[in-house]
Amino acid sequence: MAAINIQKVGIIGTGFVGTSIAFTLLQKGLFSEMVLIDVNRDKAEGEAMDLSHGIPFAKPMAICAGDYDDIADAGLVIVTAGAAQKPGETRLDLVNKNVGIFKSIIPEIAKRNRDAILLIVSNPVDILTYVAWRLSGYPQERVIGSGTVLDSARLRYLLGQRLAVNPQSVHAYIIGEHGDSELAVWSEANVSGIALDQFCEFRGYRAHAENEQKIYEHVVNAAYDIIQKKGATYFGVGMAVGRIAEALFRDEHAVMPVSVNMRGIYGIKGDLFLSMPAIVGASGIEKVLPLDLSAGESERFFRSVTALQGIIDAIDL
Ligand code: NAD
Ligand code: LAC
Repeated sequence: MAAINIQKVGIIGTGFVGTSIAFTLLQKGLFSEMVLIDVNRDKAEGEAMDLSHGIPFAKPMAICAGDYDDIADAGLVIVTAGAAQKPGETRLDLVNKNVGIFKSIIPEIAKRNRDAILLIVSNPVDILTYVAWRLSGYPQERVIGSGTVLDSARLRYLLGQRLAVNPQSVHAYIIGEHGDSELAVWSEANVSGIALDQFCEFRGYRAHAENEQKIYEHVVNAAYDIIQKKGATYFGVGMAVGRIAEALFRDEHAVMPVSVNMRGIYGIKGDLFLSMPAIVGASGIEKVLPLDLSAGESERFFRSVTALQGIIDAIDL
C-alpha cells in the first residue's frame, strides 16, 4: 500500500455534482492533486482539461482523469457516481441502482487504499454511506456522508432571508435522513446565541409554528423544485461538500451535520447512518454530538430511523 498523500483528492463520478465539487475545490485552493474517475473516461478527461485551464487563476493543482490505481494514495476520496433523481422521483427510489454501482466502486478503492477518508455524496446518501462503510471495511470514523449539510445550509439561507440577517449568524440544523423524513431542530435554533423565537419577535414575526412549517417545507422540497425546473441540483451541494472537504483537509474540528453511524446514540442498536452534528477534522469524525431533542423532534427523528432501517435491512451486501 502506498503512503497516504493528504494533498491528493479523488472524485468518483464526474457528472453535475462531481464537477461542481471539483470546481469548488479548485477555487478554494485545497489539495495539490485531483484525480477524476468516471465510467465515461472521455467525460472525466474533458472535465480535467476544462478545469485545468482555470489553474492560472487559482492555486497550483495537478488535475487529471485517472483510474483506481491513481487514487491508491489519495487522502480523500469523494464519491458522487450514480443515478440522480428524475422529476418526481425520491432519493430512496435510487437505492437499488446505486447500491449496484457502489458494489463496483467501493471495493476497487478499498483494495488499493486502506487509509483514505471516504466522503459519500451519491443518493440516497445515508444508505450509500452505510453501504460504503460495509463494503470498504474502513473504520466508521473515516466513512462520512455529506448528509444534511446542504439541507441545513438551505434552512440557514431561508432564515437569513426572512430575518434579514447573515445566514452565517444563523445556527440551525436539519438532521436525520437527507430526504423526505428529515427534520428541523427548531428547539436548538438560534441567531448568534439569541433563541430563534426571540429573534423573530425582534423582527416583528410572532406566528412561530406556522412560519417554521412553511420554511421547513421549502427546505424539504427544495431539491424537488430545482430538479423540476433545471433537471438537477449541483452548485449548492458542490459548496457544501467543498466545506466538508475543507474541514477535513485543514483539521478544523468543525461542527457540521454529516451522515454518521448512529449505533449506540439515543439507544439505536443497529448500524445506521443519519445526520447529526459531529466534530470533523483530519481523522474524519472525531465525535458525534447528539442534540437534546424535544419530544416531538425525537418522535420525528425516530420516524427517519425506522424509514432507513427498513431499507438497510432489505439490502443484500
Ligand atoms: P450525473 O448523472 O450528472 O453524474 C453521475 C456520474 O456518475 C456520470 O458521469 C456517470 O458516468 C458516473 N458513473 C455512473 N456509474 C459509475 C461507475 N460505476 N463508476 C464511475 N462513475 C460512474 O448525476 P449528478 O447530478 O452528478 O448526481 C450524482 C449523484 O449525486 C446522484 O446520486 C444524486 O442524487 C446525488 N446528489 C446528492 C446530493 C447530496 O446532497 N447528497 C445533491 C445532489 C445530487
Ligand atoms: C439535493 C439532492 C438531490 O439537492 O439530494 O438535496
